Amino acid sequence: MKLLEERILAEGMAENEDVLKVDGFLNHQVDPVLMEEIAKDFALHFKSQGITKIVTIESSGIAPALLTAKEMGIPLIIMKKQPSRVLYNDLFQTVVASFTKETSYELTMSKKFLTDEDHVLIIDDFLAYGESAAGAIRLVRMSGATVAGVGILIEKVFQAGRDKVKENGVPVYSQVKIKKLSGGKIEIEE
Ligand code: G4P
Repeated sequence: MKLLEERILAEGMAENEDVLKVDGFLNHQVDPVLMEEIAKDFALHFKSQGITKIVTIESSGIAPALLTAKEMGIPLIIMKKQPSRVLYNDLFQTVVASFTKETSYELTMSKKFLTDEDHVLIIDDFLAYGESAAGAIRLVRMSGATVAGVGILIEKVFQAGRDKVKENGVPVYSQVKIKKLSGGKIEIEE
């Protein structure tokens, strides 16, 4: 997606060889006009697939996922991250490990909002190692719903996220693919 690509090249910062900072328009300050364009692109890509709900993981996926839900005229469900292993009967839960942040958390979603009639699109900001996306797929499937696909704003192709999602039999659509981060330079895959 050209607009997002241009924005990354203009304002993104390669913090090191693994992490791209995009705090100015996505992870801290959010550009709503850019989010609207991102939403239109997702809606176009995933149209006519019978998608009934969008799911995202708090917090940075919320802005693009909300606008995509609005664009597609369907509800958004936000999966929550719980720090502790508290068990609740009314929640689906799964443990997600984060390589980038070197922690793990309990990803949770109420049992109320998805049924086996739902066909779900998962949207998130980054695809790194795919652990969050795989966790979101597990939770959606616990409800009996099916997963149409995973929509990602920024995929780092040098990490193994896409393979992890594909292992689960789910297609990935990413708007921008980062080939390499090195010496402060951001290389984008055409
Ligand atoms: P994975 O989910 O693909 O396996 O990746 P990983 O565990 O390594 O990443 C966990 C968190 O780090 C996610 O945010 C993800 O968005 C973020 N992240 C991964 N790589 C990058 C990067 O290159 N740049 C930035 N800015 N973030 C990255 P999170 O913990 O869910 O945080 P948030 O959604 O509350 O921002």
